Amino acid sequence: MQIVLIEGDGIGPEVTQAACRVVAATGVKVDWVKAPAGIPAATQFGEPLPEETLEMIRRYRVALKGPCTTPVGKGYRSINVRLRQGLELFASVRPVNTMPGVKTPYEKVDLIVVRENTEGLYAGLEHEVVPGVVESVRLVTRGAAERIVRFAFELARHRGRKLVTFCHKADVMRLSDGLFLECARAVADDYPFIQFEEKPVDNVCLELAMDPSGFDVLVMENLFGDVISDLAAGLIGGPGPGGGLGLVPGANFGTRYAVFEAVHGSAPDIAGKGWANPIAVVRSAALMLEHVGRGEAGARIERAVIRTLQAGVGLTRDLGGDGTTTTITEQIIKNLGA
Ligand code: NAI
Ligand code: MG
Repeated sequence: MQIVLIEGDGIGPEVTQAACRVVAATGVKVDWVKAPAGIPAATQFGEPLPEETLEMIRRYRVALKGPCTTPVGKGYRSINVRLRQGLELFASVRPVNTMPGVKTPYEKVDLIVVRENTEGLYAGLEHEVVPGVVESVRLVTRGAAERIVRFAFELARHRGRKLVTFCHKADVMRLSDGLFLECARAVADDYPFIQFEEKPVDNVCLELAMDPSGFDVLVMENLFGDVISDLAAGLIGGPGPGGGLGLVPGANFGTRYAVFEAVHGSAPDIAGKGWANPIAVVRSAALMLEHVGRGEAGARIERAVIRTLQAGVGLTRDLGGDGTTTTITEQIIKNLGA
């Protein structure tokens, strides 16, 4: 089976390599097709997201991706945003659940963040009106709003989830989130067997910080989803820097293509040191295996990760250990057989 591999930059090559080792150890034969993106691509091709990389994903349909740095400053548009828009990967899915063995003040976190991935404040529609005045357009279209909420309900239905929470700020952004909310209500009406609630996003943040156990599936606009994803990762995090970012997997789905990647970024502060926690990308690879019909191998990986965390051997610094990317990867591989 051919699957595109984007190693990315920063800790990207370290953690994606670890994921490839774990996948290989399951016995599933994946023929990785490497595609460039990020700083190496910018250096080599003068373009951080070469068209040929998009073409490869269009050809093979599925990719595993490491994080890619987006330099802050004029002239750069996020590679990730461009990739998601270019392939119409409209839904980002981030399952955030408490992992056994990882100390956190929250015990029963088990939620799925579903983020609209192509519009909202990340639509990329920004311009200078006059010097000193700029505008960013917050794009909401009925088609995309209905599509993402329906996606969330379908996910809830297939995963046996009971509650979908739509997060918004419709009282302030009356037109954009007004339309989104209207669409959410209309779609929710098709799923009377799944509970639906609508909540202001600031309220959701407060409740997540106080007691996240009441949330199940959360669906929202692009920027809100970016922020809530990191907040949610913090709820399940280990004691070290990065919190739970090293644990949370992710998937970007469109109608034809899917790209699997962690929530975290390229972590330039620890790149090259061997300290990166590969679990988020390893679990993203597990989601990828499920997507391509190898759910049993994906479930084995998930169990091996849990056993590794429970045993507490070889863990990386973010998890309170003093191990490396290699030691934790070897533990996961060892636990695949257990
Ligand atoms: P980040 O997620 O890279 O790092 C935040 C903190 O978490 C840092 O202290 C880092 O060391 C730690 N951390 C992250 N992943 C970790 C892991 N696997 N193991 C251990 N510690 C980990 O966020 P930051 O610093 O805001 O972004 C760095 C770059 O990454 C930026 O250029 C940003 O644009 C890019 N980025 C790319 C993403 C992608 O390609 N999907 C997603 C998010 C950010
Ligand atoms: Mg983010």
